[in-house]
Amino acid sequence: MNYTFLNDRIKLICGDFLGVELDENSIDLLITSPPYNVGIEYEDFRDKMKYEEYLSFTEKWLSKAYRLLKEDGRICFNILLDKNKGE
Ligand SMILES: C[S@@+](CC[C@H](N)C(=O)[O-])C[C@H]1O[C@@H](n2cnc3c(N)ncnc32)[C@H](O)[C@@H]1O
Repeated sequence: MNYTFLNDRIKLICGDFLGVELDENSIDLLITSPPYNVGIEYEDFRDKMKYEEYLSFTEKWLSKAYRLLKEDGRICFNILLDKNKGE
């Protein structure tokens, strides 16, 4: 694994969250600001999916996050609610 920063307590990885391999039940705190699907022009990400596709993408990263978290872990995410529902 290529770490952007690594010491005894902190590992920073820059990469695709869905592709990165991490141990399940190993993370205390996960903080994320996932794509909002509002058409922001990123260089490396298409931020304008069909709503069903966005739901499926969201289910993938959120269920992976849930598996990686310890039982008493916490997740904080910054996300819009129902912004593009039905589009
Ligand atoms: C709403 S933005 C986050 C903005 C960030 N909070 C900031 O202030 O710069 C969503 C980001 O998630 C990234 N992203 C999309 N899919 C990803 C994935 N599978 N793994 C890691 N990052 C991803 C996008 O490239 C984009 O930069």
